[in-house]
Amino acid sequence: MKTAICPGSFDPVTYGHLDIFRRASRLFDEVVVLVMVNIEKNPSFTAAERMEMIREATRDFPNIRVESYDGLLINYVKEVGAVAIVKGLRAVSDFEYEFQMALTNKTLYHKAETVFLTTSIHNMYVSSSLVKTIARFGGDIHRLVPDCLLERITQRLYQQKEGGTTQE
Ligand code: PNS
Repeated sequence: MKTAICPGSFDPVTYGHLDIFRRASRLFDEVVVLVMVNIEKNPSFTAAERMEMIREATRDFPNIRVESYDGLLINYVKEVGAVAIVKGLRAVSDFEYEFQMALTNKTLYHKAETVFLTTSIHNMYVSSSLVKTIARFGGDIHRLVPDCLLERITQRLYQQKEGGTTQE
């Protein structure tokens, strides 16, 4: 069985991420969406909340499961015997960072490949930070996040603009 890992912060998950999960799920027997701690970012949602939201949005995908991990990505890849790390590439600006990550992970463990899927054209501009900026100022994010999560994401982010914080 070929397992692939889709790692990320997913704070929150967007249509752009879901598109990559769906396409990865057609290429591999099993896809693990891995909610990770990015130490350079201060999340708006806890890891448990992010996992819950992804589970809800991927309920209809038969071969996707959602996990979290706060160590090195490649250690998780080794632990589960995954053959690939799948990342979405939106633009040239994503490339330098992703290329460095891919080379680092390959150096740490040569048996897994990093596979880049180019984003669908209508998701090129979509990012979690864009979602957060728009929602914090009361803007409409319905084209960026799934309907089932819209109210939850909108409310949390709007509250945070008013001064609330998230405890990990
Ligand atoms: O959605 P993001 O924030 O771009 O995801 C980045 C993430 C979480 C995939 C990346 O920061 C990561 O892989 N973090 C785990 C630590 C790690 O393995 N780093 C790479 C080797 S130094």
